[in-house]
This record gives sequence, C-alpha cells and structure tokens, in this order.
Amino acid sequence: MAPVQRSTVQSSTSLGSSGWTDARLILALEEVVEKELDRHLSVAKEWMPHEFVPWSQGRDFDGVLGGEAWSVEQSQVTALGRVSLVVNLLTEDNLPSYHHEIASMFGREGAWGTWVHRWTAEEGRHGIAIRDYLLATRAVDPVELERARMSHMSEGFESDNAHSMLQSVAYVAFQELATRIAHRNTGKYAGDPLCEQLLAKVANDENLHMVFYRNLLKAALEIAPDQAMRAIADVVTDFRMPGHGIPGFERAAAQIALGGVYNLRIHHDDVLQPVLRHLKVMEIGGLGPEGVLAQNELGVFLDGLDSQARKFEERQAAIMARRAARRSAE
Ligand SMILES: [Fe+2]
Ligand SMILES: [Fe+2]
Repeated sequence: MAPVQRSTVQSSTSLGSSGWTDARLILALEEVVEKELDRHLSVAKEWMPHEFVPWSQGRDFDGVLGGEAWSVEQSQVTALGRVSLVVNLLTEDNLPSYHHEIASMFGREGAWGTWVHRWTAEEGRHGIAIRDYLLATRAVDPVELERARMSHMSEGFESDNAHSMLQSVAYVAFQELATRIAHRNTGKYAGDPLCEQLLAKVANDENLHMVFYRNLLKAALEIAPDQAMRAIADVVTDFRMPGHGIPGFERAAAQIALGGVYNLRIHHDDVLQPVLRHLKVMEIGGLGPEGVLAQNELGVFLDGLDSQARKFEERQAAIMARRAARRSAE
C-alpha cells in the first residue's frame, strides 16, 4: 500500500519530536479543540433521559416504603443484558474520577475547559438514564447495585495514561468507541426494546465523543507524528476498559465476551480497526525511526490480536454448541 503523505504536517521537524512537551501540545491543539467543540455542539442534539424510562412499570420497593422486594423474574431483561447493564452503569458511575483525570490533563481553561465540562455533563446523563431504567423496570437487584456502586466509586479510577497527553487522547478515542459498541450490543441482547432504544441513544452520544477525540488524534498525528504513533501503539497494545475495577469484573467480562456484547473479535474489528483505518495509522509514511518502530509494533500486535480473536471465536462456538446440545437433551 502506498504510504499516505501527511498533507498538513506542521513544524514537527523544526521542533524535533522531543520538543513536544504536553504543555506545548495542549497549546498547539487548542485551535483544533475549538473547531471540534463547535462541530460537536452543532451536531449533538438535546435529548431527555426521562422520556426513555417506562415509569408506569415502577413501584415501591421493600424497606422504608414497605413495597415489594426485588426478585429476578420481575423483569424481562435477559441474564446477559443484566450483567452488561450493570457493568455499563458502574462504568458510567465513576464519572467524578474521569472528570478529575481529564480536567487535570487538559485543564479547565479556554476551549479545552469548555469541552471537559460539556463532556462531563453529557456523560452524567448516561448514568442517570440507565439507573432510572433499571430501577423502574426492576431489571437488577437494587441493593446489590448500590453496594457495587459504593465499592467501585470508593476505589476511584486512575488513568493508565495520566503521564502522557497524547496517550490520554489516543486512549479516549478508542475507549469512547468501545463504550459505544458495549452500549449498543447490550441493548441488542437485553430482551427489551425499550432498553435497546435507550442504549441506542446513549451509544449515539458515545459516538460523537469518539469523533471528537479521533479528530484530535488526527491533528496530533500531523503535528507530532512520531510521538503520536508511539502513543497509539502504547495504548492499543495495553488497552483495558475503564470498568476493570468493578467488583466481579473478570467474571462479568467473561459472560459479556461469550454473549457477544464485547470480546476480542469485537475489540479488534469494531473498535481498533475503524479508528486506525480512519486515521490511516498503518499507512502513514515519512516517520522518523521512533515512529516507524511504533508503527511496526502496532502491526505485529494487531496480527497477534486477530489470531487470538480467532481462537476465542472457536472456543465460543464450542461452548455454545455444548450448551445447545445440553438444552436439547433436557
Ligand atoms: Fe457514557
Ligand atoms: Fe462518552
């Protein structure tokens, strides 16, 4: 494939790749943030979380109001949907920690600050909407949910990328898309069209967040190509979801993977590849030795991930076939 020439490369050579400190990059990208913020505000449509919640299904719980205790058969949501919804909600719940991380990294001034606050406000809507839905429809045990929220938020969230501005931007570009796909697929398998409708709305917000960060990463690749390539390689090869600290995450993640909400195949095909392809990351030419090294590392990693994903799919098919055989024998 012919190397893609960077059309709007700025003065990276005169500065040298080591000349780009985080502070200089934040300053250099301010104009792009302003432009992307304007674009975001012009396409993001206001929506009302309360309109998506079937309040008529709600009733008092036991305890203070002496209502009916929760039990699993009260909701039509599938077991897979329940697990995924809880992971998605607890991930959204840690917003104060995410806000702290990005406000510390990007600052609270100018266009960066406006974006940080706007993004936080939009993310806040997701937790509200999903919790309201879960409680009104009795889709999850409210006591367990509250205890998990307390435990998860009390741990806080510390970004793996807080040491690098470029890594932070690269991470959120992939992570917002990962979140979009996780919400969308959760809706698809939840077993309730109302839940799917709500999560499609949330997923749409996540997609716009991804576009914002992806475009910022594109500008970073033009300004500081070698450093940006290094950041992308580091983030992709060491990616983990922000909800990894949730109590019981490993077990939940295994169910979510097997059920097809989020797994290695989805991560490779629907999250990593679309962003990398859009930015033409594997085709960028004219890199210095550091950039070339990072690009090669990325290529090797993606090949390995693809074959791991293939092995996962074989295991998944075998488990599903065993389950189907067991069901038909019953
Ligand atoms: Fe969100
Ligand atoms: Fe988001």
